[in-house]
Amino acid sequence: MIRVTIDGLPVEAGDGERLIDLINRTGSKVPQVCYHPQLGPIQTCDTCMVEVNGNLVRACATTVLAEMNVDTKTVAASAAQRQAFDKILGNHVLYCTVCDNNNGNCTVHNTTKLLAVEHQQTPYRPKPYEVDNSNPFYRYDPDQCILCGRCVEACQNLQVNETLSINWEDPHPRVLWDGGATIGESSCVSCGHCVTVCPCNALMETSMVGKAGFMTGLPKPALNGMIDVVKGIEPETGYGTIMRLSEAEETMRESRIRRTKTVCTYCGVGCSFDVWTKDRHILKVEPQDGPANGVSTCVKGKFAWDHINSEDRLTKPLIREGDKFREATWEEALSLVARRLSEIKAQHGPDSIGLIASSKCTNEESYLMQKMARAVIGTNNIDNCSRYCQSPATMGLFRTVGYGGDSGSISDIAQADLVVIVGSNTAESHPVLATRVKRAHKLRGQKLIVSDLRENEMARRADIFLHTQPGTDLIWLSAVGRYLIDNGLAKTDFIDRWVNGFEAYRNSLEPFTLEFASERCGLPVDTLKKVAHTIAESERVCILWAMGVTQHSQGSDTSTAISNLLLLTGNYMRPGTGAYPLRGHNNVQGAGDNGSMPDDLPGYQSVDDPEVRARFEAAWKVTLPSSKGLDNHQMVDAIQEGKLKALYVGGEEMSIVDSNANYVSDAFSKLEFFVVQEVIFGATCQYADVVLPAAPSLEKEGTFTSTERRIQRLYEVFEPLEGCRPDWQIIRDVANHLGAGWHYRHPSEVMDEIAALSPMFAGVSYERLSGYKSLQWPVAADGSDEPLLYTKEFAFPDGKARLFPLRWVEAPEQPDDEFDLHLNNGRILEHFHEGNLTYRTAGIRNKTPDTFVEVSPELAKERGIQDGSWVRLTSRYGNLRVRALVTDRVHGKELYMPMNSVESPVNALTSSHVDSVTDTPAFKELSIKMTVLPEIGENPLPRTNHRWGHPTPQRGVEVERKWKRADYRAPGSQLVQIPPK
Ligand code: SF4
Ligand code: SF4
Ligand code: SF4
Ligand code: FES
Repeated sequence: MIRVTIDGLPVEAGDGERLIDLINRTGSKVPQVCYHPQLGPIQTCDTCMVEVNGNLVRACATTVLAEMNVDTKTVAASAAQRQAFDKILGNHVLYCTVCDNNNGNCTVHNTTKLLAVEHQQTPYRPKPYEVDNSNPFYRYDPDQCILCGRCVEACQNLQVNETLSINWEDPHPRVLWDGGATIGESSCVSCGHCVTVCPCNALMETSMVGKAGFMTGLPKPALNGMIDVVKGIEPETGYGTIMRLSEAEETMRESRIRRTKTVCTYCGVGCSFDVWTKDRHILKVEPQDGPANGVSTCVKGKFAWDHINSEDRLTKPLIREGDKFREATWEEALSLVARRLSEIKAQHGPDSIGLIASSKCTNEESYLMQKMARAVIGTNNIDNCSRYCQSPATMGLFRTVGYGGDSGSISDIAQADLVVIVGSNTAESHPVLATRVKRAHKLRGQKLIVSDLRENEMARRADIFLHTQPGTDLIWLSAVGRYLIDNGLAKTDFIDRWVNGFEAYRNSLEPFTLEFASERCGLPVDTLKKVAHTIAESERVCILWAMGVTQHSQGSDTSTAISNLLLLTGNYMRPGTGAYPLRGHNNVQGAGDNGSMPDDLPGYQSVDDPEVRARFEAAWKVTLPSSKGLDNHQMVDAIQEGKLKALYVGGEEMSIVDSNANYVSDAFSKLEFFVVQEVIFGATCQYADVVLPAAPSLEKEGTFTSTERRIQRLYEVFEPLEGCRPDWQIIRDVANHLGAGWHYRHPSEVMDEIAALSPMFAGVSYERLSGYKSLQWPVAADGSDEPLLYTKEFAFPDGKARLFPLRWVEAPEQPDDEFDLHLNNGRILEHFHEGNLTYRTAGIRNKTPDTFVEVSPELAKERGIQDGSWVRLTSRYGNLRVRALVTDRVHGKELYMPMNSVESPVNALTSSHVDSVTDTPAFKELSIKMTVLPEIGENPLPRTNHRWGHPTPQRGVEVERKWKRADYRAPGSQLVQIPPK
C-alpha cells in the first residue's frame, strides 16, 4: 500500500491502482463518462480531469504513485470537467423524461446532475446519419451518440470481434460497423457488449425501445413533439427542472420494472446477469459484474429468450391415446406415471426402469432425479448427457489429478502465457470464455496453439494451427511429451516432487516418435518441435479441450494425454496453468456432481462403497442398490434388447442429439412406458406416453455449476407459465405419487441436503450464494472454496498426481472407397445444440435459419457444388438432405455440419461406436458419402449472417486520432497528456 492525499485527506492506495478507482473508492464524486472499470481507460471524454501535484490529468489514465497530491475540486479541474462535459452535450439531446434509458443508470443524465448543469454552451449538432435499425436485437442512434468510444473498446478489446470503430477524421464522426456497413450486414455477432457498456441511449436493446418509460411508446410525431418541448423550455427553466421531472418519471418506473438475477441457460461458461422485465416482457438482459463474465455475454445469453413466451410452450400434461396426445390434468398425469412405473417395477424389477436427468436443469433437480431413481424406484439406472460429451474428460482427470473438473478458473486462462486449444470451437461454443483468450492474445501477447480439423476463428487467430488428421490428437500430444523428455525439457523437479508413475509413462511413449506423429497426424516434424519448445518455454500453460477430443473412441485416453502433458511440464498447482475441459451445457458439470450417474452418488461417492451407501441410507431411510446402473448409452441398448421397459427423460432431446439417432428413436418406440418432462414439445416427446410441461430457467430457482466449478444461484424472473411446473416440483410430485413422502418446499432445502451428504459441497448454502456470490467446489464446511485446485496437493491419498500410460488404437469407423469423406460436426454460435430454444428467437432464426454442410473449395470444384446446392449425405447408419456452404474453413475431403437442426439432424448419420472407457459416443468419427442432388437452393447463410462481414481490427478506440483533430481542444491549458496503452 502507498499513501496519497485526495482533496487534503490522506488515503491508502494499492500499488499500481488507477487514480479514478481510488477516487471512487473514497467516495469523492468526479465525472467519468467514458470510463468503465472493465474496459480500462479510454480517454475520450475528458470529464475526469483532476489536478495531481498542480497539473491537470485525466484520472482514468493516471496510475497512483506514492505521495501524490490529488485535487478533484480546484477551479481548474472543475472548469475542465465542465468544459469537457459541455462538449458531450453538443452530441446529445437530454430528453430524459421520454427516453427509455431514464432508469437511474444513464451516465449522461447522472453527470448532468452531478455537475449541476443548467445550460449548455456548445449547441447541439445533429449528425447527418439515419438511425440504424438493421439488427434485430439493438439499434444505433447517431444523434444521441456522444462518441465516448466505450462500444468500440468493448468490441475491439473485450469481445474482440473487431467490428466497431469511430471515423475520427470525418467532419461528423460516428460509430462504424465494418468501417461503414449497416449493422445488419456487418460482422457483428450480436454479443451485446457494446449495448451493455453504452453510457446513454445511443445503443439500445430493441426490446427496450418504446417499452421502458410511461411515455416512450408514444407515436413518433408525438414523441418528437415532446422532445421539442423539452428543448424549447431549457433556455428558460434550465436543466434542473427538466431533470427533476424526468426523475419523477424514473421513480414511477421502479414500480413496474423488475431486475432479477439469473444465470444463463445455454453453455457452460456460467454468465450471470440481471433480467429487466415489465410484466412478462423482457426489457433487456444486463450483465454487470458476473463472477465469470463481468459485462460479457454472447448473443444467446443477451438476446435468445423468446422461448420463454413462445406459443410453442407446453402448458398442459399430455397423455398418449393411440397415435395422438390428449391434454390431461396434473393429477391424472402424475397418477398414471406412478401407476405404470409401479406396475413395471413389480413385474420386471426396478432395473427395468431408467432415468435421464437434464444438464439444463438445476443441481437440485439433478439431485432429486437421482434420488428418485435410487431411493424411490430402487435402481442406479440414472445418467445425464455428460455421457455424450464430458465423461471422457472427467475420466482423464480422475486418472491423473483426482478431481473431474477444470483445475482453475477462467481468470487463470486469461493469465496464462500460452493457451493450447484442442478440439474445441471455443469462439462459438464457449463464446465469452473465448473472449478472454482473444483479449489476452491481442493485448498481452499471450500465445495460442490450436489443434482442430477445421479452421475456426481461434485457429485463424492462433500462432500455431495444427490441422490434424481426424482422431489423432493423442498421438501428437504423446509425441510432444516424448520429445520433451528425450530433450531434457520435462520439468523433472515438479515430477520428482509431485507425480507418480513416470517410468511406466515414459515406457508407454516409446512408439510416439515425432516421425510417427508427423505421418499419422499429417503435421511437419518441425511444427511439432515448435509446439514442444513453445510449451516448454512458456511459464504458464493452460490446455482447453472439448468435444473434438472427447467424442472419439479414445476420448478418455486423449483427455488423459492432455493431463499427462500438463504434468510433464509442471503446469498444475499455479495460477495461470492447468486443465480446462470446457463443459458444454449450463449445468452439465452440476448434473454429474449431483449424482445423476450410474456409478456415483452425489459428490462422486461410489455406489459400491458400503460406508457411502450407509450414510445415504440413513438420511433417506431406504436401502439403496449397490451395483452400478446402466448409463444412457447402455439404456438404449437395453431397450433394444427388451430388458429396459420404462424410461423417464427429464429434459433431454435424445432422439436428435444422441448418436445414431435412428437407433435411439427406434428404441423409444419399443418402450412399454415413456415419460418426458419438457418445456417445448420436441422430437423425443413424439415417442412419449406422458409429457409433463416443465418450466425453463427463468421461471424457477436453483443453482447451476459452470465449467469452472462455479456454483451460482438463479432467481425466479417470471412465475411459471400457467400449467407448467419447475422440474424440481414435478420430480417431487412424481416421487410422492410413488409413495416417497418428500416435503421439499424450496430448492434451498434440497441444497442443504446435498451439502449434508457430500463432503465436496459441505459448505454450500443459499445464503453463501445469495445475489451474485458464488462458490467454486470443493467447498469446505466453513464456506471456503477453491478457485484454483491442487494448490497444496493433488486429490489422491498420497497427494501426488499420476502419469497414466497410454497406447493409440485406430478408430473403428474408417473411410473406404464408398464412404470416402469425413464428416465432423458441432455447435454454431447462434444456436444451442439442436436449437429447440434458440429457434424460438426470431432474430436468430432469420440470421441463421437452418443447418448446412461445409464443403471445401477444392471438393466443391471436384464435385460441382456451389453455395446452396442440395446434397444427400449417407453414412453406414442413415442419410439426410442438406444444403452446402462452400468455405475454406474446411479442407479437402473433410466436411463439417452444425448440429442445429430438427429436420436434418446430423445424428441421423452418426454411429454407435463409443469411447471404450466411458461409453461416450464417437460422434466425431464418421465416414460418409455425398451425392449431389439436382436442386440448388438459396445460400443457407443469409447476407445478414455475421460470417459475411469484414471486421476492422484496430488497437481500440484510438483516441490519439481524436486528439489530432483540428477542432479538438484539450480542456485546461496545463493538461499532462498520458498516451493510451
Ligand atoms: S460484435 Fe456487435 S454486438 Fe458485439 S460488441 Fe461488436 S458491434 Fe457490439
Ligand atoms: S454508441 Fe458507442 S460511442 Fe456512442 S455513446 Fe454509445 S458507447 Fe459511446
Ligand atoms: S451461452 Fe455461454 S457464453 Fe453465451 S451468455 Fe450464455 S453462458 Fe455466456
Ligand atoms: S473518464 Fe473519460 S477521459 Fe477519463
